[in-house]
Amino acid sequence: MAYNFDEEHHSTYKNTAKWSMANEHFEEEDIIPLWVAEMDFKLPPEIIDRVKARVDEGIFGYTMLTEEVKEVVALWISKRHQMQVNQESVCFSPGVMPAVQASIQAFTNPGDRVIIQTPVYGPFSKVVANTSRELVTNPLQFKNGKYEMDFDDLVKKIEETDAKMLLLCNPHNPVGRVWSLDELQRLGEIVDKYRLLVVSDEIHADLILRDHQHTVFSKVSDTMSKKSVLCFSPSKSFNMAGLNTSFTIIEDEEMRATFQKKLEENYQAMANPISLEAAKSAYEIGEAWLEQCLNYIEGNIHYLREYLSKNIPELKLVNSQGTYLVWIDCRVLGLNQEELFHFLLKKAKVAVNNGFEFGEEGAGFIRMNMACRRATLEEALQRIEKAIKEFRK
Ligand SMILES: Cc1ncc(COP(=O)(O)O)c(C=O)c1O
Repeated sequence: MAYNFDEEHHSTYKNTAKWSMANEHFEEEDIIPLWVAEMDFKLPPEIIDRVKARVDEGIFGYTMLTEEVKEVVALWISKRHQMQVNQESVCFSPGVMPAVQASIQAFTNPGDRVIIQTPVYGPFSKVVANTSRELVTNPLQFKNGKYEMDFDDLVKKIEETDAKMLLLCNPHNPVGRVWSLDELQRLGEIVDKYRLLVVSDEIHADLILRDHQHTVFSKVSDTMSKKSVLCFSPSKSFNMAGLNTSFTIIEDEEMRATFQKKLEENYQAMANPISLEAAKSAYEIGEAWLEQCLNYIEGNIHYLREYLSKNIPELKLVNSQGTYLVWIDCRVLGLNQEELFHFLLKKAKVAVNNGFEFGEEGAGFIRMNMACRRATLEEALQRIEKAIKEFRK
């Protein structure tokens, strides 16, 4: 079946954070929102029908993760990422960030150092602060238009701070890197030597662009497969972030029990019956939709690249390998971060994510969301082009 990603759903968008909160959040009317990581696409009818059928059952009591759902999750990850996932290692969490938070609480102590690789998804630094741990940054290096991990700096920071954990963004939001096997193996060797635990946020793992190969972090070695925490979710790939459902894979039985206990202490161990049905259906029957959706997004990124190089060469697209979020270098405009963000918001009326949200290394950059209709992207780019023309004068 061919799905139509050009279809407009304006009345539905009104209920999403991306659209409805935008005017209030940015205190600006009629803006095109290309910010928060949600898609503008509707789920395929076959998944919606399954959710409706679950609703028709009419019983919505407290819900546990069933063996049936665990099996579906294990099968999806095993097949899509060519690895063996044991059904018993699948845990429920009401989102990736609750799982990251519970992992920090379960496997480190207050005051311990936790490493993040900036620029990175903003809540990574917040969750470290919220759990009373100390943040250590291992900034990515931007070399010849490409982001890379800085392993020398990582070793130095671990030795200096005696860090206990690293939060890995795999693939990386916002810079769009799909880490290579070599890079992840090198990372695995370092964390193994210094006994750090890796919590690998794999929320974008199913959104890999053509010609790139994703490696789930635990695949890099036997030790990592037993000793890492993997956070998966259908929320980004199947546009169901509001359903608050994610799956954490922990191979080691003792670690899994410790994690589970922490989730229970946080009152976050119970699932939502509708969400579980949606997640299960997505993994069981949604792959064809996801593949077409990825093609469409890839088309958007191609359109963006061509448009920028032809009409707005001041904005330089960093090569995207995965996720539907793109990272754009705007430093040549010579605006400071606030000026850049406000220029796009007030003059172009396009809401993007301010690069600074991802750490100070994001200054001069913006993040834009490509999971939108082509027509939305076209209009946003025309608006930006017009504003830049004025700016040039
Ligand atoms: C890398 C990354 N991790 C986690 C999240 C949030 O996940 P959740 O809503 O499941 O907590 C996002 C959302 O954009 C993300 O990009």
